Amino acid sequence: THGGISKKNAHPHRVGNVVLAHNGIVENYDELKHSVGNTHEFSSDTDSEVIAVLLHKAYTKTKSPDQAIRDVAKQITGRFAIVVMFDGIPGFFAARRGSPIIIGKAKEATYVASDIPAFLEYTQTVNYIDDNEMVYVTPSNTRVTNLITGRKVQKRDITVSWEPEEIEKGSWPHFMIKEIFDQKETILEAIHHNNKTIQSFVKKLETAKGIYLIACGTAHKVAMVAEYLFADIAHIKINVVPAAEMPSFEKFVHKNTALLAISQSGETADVLEILERGKKRGARILSITNVPSSSIARLSDAHFPINAGAEKAVASTKAATSQMALLLVCAYTASKKHTSIKTLTDIGRGVIWNTTSAINDMLNPRYAKHIEKIAKKISRHQNLFIIGRGTLYPIALEAAIKIQEVSYIHAQGFAAGELKHGPIALIEKGTPCVVLGDDPETIANAIELQSRGGFIIGIAPTQARVVDLWIRVPDCNSAQAIATVIPIQLLSYYLARARKLDPDMPRNLAKSVTVK
Ligand code: AGP
Repeated sequence: THGGISKKNAHPHRVGNVVLAHNGIVENYDELKHSVGNTHEFSSDTDSEVIAVLLHKAYTKTKSPDQAIRDVAKQITGRFAIVVMFDGIPGFFAARRGSPIIIGKAKEATYVASDIPAFLEYTQTVNYIDDNEMVYVTPSNTRVTNLITGRKVQKRDITVSWEPEEIEKGSWPHFMIKEIFDQKETILEAIHHNNKTIQSFVKKLETAKGIYLIACGTAHKVAMVAEYLFADIAHIKINVVPAAEMPSFEKFVHKNTALLAISQSGETADVLEILERGKKRGARILSITNVPSSSIARLSDAHFPINAGAEKAVASTKAATSQMALLLVCAYTASKKHTSIKTLTDIGRGVIWNTTSAINDMLNPRYAKHIEKIAKKISRHQNLFIIGRGTLYPIALEAAIKIQEVSYIHAQGFAAGELKHGPIALIEKGTPCVVLGDDPETIANAIELQSRGGFIIGIAPTQARVVDLWIRVPDCNSAQAIATVIPIQLLSYYLARARKLDPDMPRNLAKSVTVK
């Protein structure tokens, strides 16, 4: 968050007798730096170094690592997860407030990480460290205390269900492509909850005084798809707000307002903060994440795991389709069209079963090859536009994120009907335009694009005449967004490959955005 990517800004930071690594953000960094005065010459541009300076001072004074960490934690405003070593003290200390820390316990070693996959190869036994807790770790012992009171905290050993193989690429060249193909199985896993659980979750939404879906990035586009699904299927209006924009609307969050967070990692700081504040206002906190032990899941009154298995690639793929599948079943469950709620949940399940089977037919090496060829053809372009309507509008926005983050092409998504209000001015001869869907109005928009020189790539169940290149997707009715996003994920992946980029390592991005 502070300073460029350079050796001097890389962690850990050593100051005197202290070595520190920090994840998070010190919001009062300037103030703290000022308080240190000229007693220390800062050698990095990071906010983290000031924590190391304060720890060094506190430890030199108190000679107690625990006391030093407690004293410094009191001074920090913002989120942090820190790991600290003190000269002459065996093992290391870790503490958290807002950013994740997880302990992995193996027979011969203990691990401290911010995410389980970091040590899953060595152990599946974990201790979750909560906010305002500190842990002292030696190879043979783990001692957890409260960061404020210093009192001992008893932790339960938990065995995580993720298998080590899940975080291996196996014979796949990248995690991104592996996870795209994982969707043959993961979509169904998402709705692996009994009807009662789904119905009670939906009831918490339906009976709330206002529903807000809070998410970031791809998860936010999933939330937008859900907005359409709930409107179309259940005739319920939900509000979808990107977490960072929610402060403007928090005045509408009261007792019994439902805040439903959608997040793969369950650790996204912007989302977490809105939920924490919502909880204080008496809101019902609901969440759908891929990590049942995550901070968001544990903060929630009701949580749905999507069971997609570890998602390692920075670009979110399988988590998004799983989230959409679960939200679609929830929308059917909330529908008032029939009297028997049980039947409705099952209707939703039926849609997802049919969609999964159609996706299984579609997603094969020949299909991927066809998309790879298209990617190679358009990979030299600097601009690319995507249009869609209804649930395919958020998918057009998602397509833009996916293409931007792994191929660095300037991609933009638009609501198809908005073209004529400005964006169409961007179209030049040969500009690749991806058109999602084959309904008459969207096809009319595609014709407008083509007549301005656009090169039309159609992603739809049928091949319209206007289309220069066609990627077929099955007709999946209300689950069309789920089927349509998959060729887009493949297109993004192959665009990155064609541009000689590593899709698993996009520049400037992190998998879990645990800072604001
Ligand atoms: C997705 O491809 C992105 N890397 C990013 O937009 C991501 O979806 C966003 O940061 C939210 O993450 P979360 O689902 O873990 O909350």
